[in-house]
This record gives sequence, structure tokens and C-alpha cells, in this order.
Amino acid sequence: MTTVTRFGAFLPKDTDGNVAQLHGIGVWRFGDTWYAYGENKVNGNLFQGVACYTTKDFDAWENHGIVLDVQEDGSALGADRIGERPKVLHCPKTGKYVMLIHAETPGYGYAHIGVAVADDPLGPFAFRTTITWRGYLSRDIGVFQDSDGAAYVMSEDRDHGTHIYRLSDDYLTIVEDVACERATDYEYGLESPTIVKKDGLYYWFGSKLTGWSTNDNMFSTATDLHGPWSEWRLFAPAGSQTFDSQVDIVVPLGDDPYDSDEFLFIGDRWMKDDLGDSPIVQLPIVIGDGKASIAWDESYEGSTHR
Ligand code: DGJ
Repeated sequence: MTTVTRFGAFLPKDTDGNVAQLHGIGVWRFGDTWYAYGENKVNGNLFQGVACYTTKDFDAWENHGIVLDVQEDGSALGADRIGERPKVLHCPKTGKYVMLIHAETPGYGYAHIGVAVADDPLGPFAFRTTITWRGYLSRDIGVFQDSDGAAYVMSEDRDHGTHIYRLSDDYLTIVEDVACERATDYEYGLESPTIVKKDGLYYWFGSKLTGWSTNDNMFSTATDLHGPWSEWRLFAPAGSQTFDSQVDIVVPLGDDPYDSDEFLFIGDRWMKDDLGDSPIVQLPIVIGDGKASIAWDESYEGSTHR
């Protein structure tokens, strides 16, 4: 069980005192260490590589540098492209660490998933290719690894909704469109998708589509990833705009990620004119019995709104 005591809205810093470039954070525990991957946004929105940090407590972050480099000109992850929401899975079949990342052009028209592979969670990751399912758009992504080792990538597709796709056994490609959902009374599926499982119930979180602005994020539940998925409901006070953040990931803190009593919510509070200095919003999230909720305590750092 990992104990987290730092909550609120703040800039995570590395052990050298620099802002940890953990925007669009993906985080998973390998062994007894948490490995986090983030968008390096020091110089704006174009791709500057994926940064990696480790932590034991979600407070002190050790910087391991860029683990997926900017690729050569013409590549889907070259210096004139965008890379968002890097997520890393450890594949039990191959033993490899597989990074999935939203690969974009500046107009957000490319909408593919980049795939990169490493032998070590600290990289270096070798960029392999980009994938989509049947050419569908794939904007914001998240990943979920189930207790049976099957892995999934959730992917927002403006035309159809947000998909849950099952990955192949080597996690390198998509083999099944498991579900495709639009949010309740909303014309789109939700972006920034993330899923956790507790007591056999899947909880799927996401944000409405408001660019870099925040909104009241929602969640849905199901006993099977194929669905049926429940109606989408709030998990933060209505009108708080999820305490002015966009859900990025919900992290099970227990030793067994599928039987955790405690979860951590991490969201982005994007500063569109200074993305590299965008704070995170880090809060306990109570999950169980089909419910989920975050609350703000006056002891927390920062404020509920920017
Ligand atoms: C919302 C997405 O969640 C972010 O990752 C980013 O793509 C912005 N839109 C860009 O406007």
C-alpha cells in the first residue's frame, strides 16, 4: 500500500527543484516503484519527448530524463508534431515495456496511436509505428491492464464515441473494438479516458470536450468491459469543473490494484499559454459500490480554481 499525503493543486517538482514534466501523466507500479511518464511541455505544445520520473509517495519525483526522444523529421513524432498522454504497460507475454501515446499533427487531424517499446521502464523507448482501428480517429487515449493480463487502450473518436480496444497479446496492436460509448445526453464520447476495477466492477472516468478548459468530468460503471455501461454521472461537485482539472488517471494505491481500498485522482489544470507550468490536481478519490467521489479539504494546497 502506498501512502500519499500531498493533496491539492500544485506544481510537482523533481528532486532538483524543476517542474516535473508530467503533463498528461501515465503512471504504473513496476516492482515497488511508481514510474510516471509525461508530456514534456517546457517549450509549448509541439513534441519534446516523453519524460520519465519515479516516486515512492507521489511527492518526491526523481527525474530520469527523456525516455522517448523526438524522432527524425517526417516521423509521426517528429519535432513538428504533438505527442500526448504517454501510457506504459508491462507486457507479461514478451516482458517488454510498451508505450502508447497519442500522436498528432498541430491541427489535430492525424489522430493516431504511437507505439514504442523498451526493455526497461526507464527506457530508452524505440518508436515502432502508429496504429488506428479501421482508420477511426484516435485522439485522447488511456490504458487499462486487467487482472488476466489482457490490456486495453481507450481512445476518443469524435465520429463514433470513445472506444475500449483490446490489445494483442504483445500489446503492439489492436485486435478488438470492445465497446464504444458516448456520454449520457452528450454527442461525444469522453476524452482523457481512464479505467480502474474494484470488486469486479469497472469504473471508467473521462472529461467532456472543452479543449484546454475544464468541465465537470463524469464516470460510468460496468461489470464487463463490453458493457452495458451505466449512465455517466458526476464524481465532483457540480459546477466545480472537477476542481478546475481534467481527469488524467485514477491510480489504485493498494498492493493489489484490483482490490484496492484507496485510489488517487490526478488531473491536469492546463495553462494553455504556459503548458509546461500547468499544475496537477491530486486528490484522494473514494471508489466503491458503484460510486466515486472527490472532495476538497481546506488543508489542501492551492485553490479549487485557478
Ligand atoms: C483536450 C485533451 O484532453 C488534451 O490532451 C489536449 O489534446 C487538448 N484537448 C488540446 O486542446
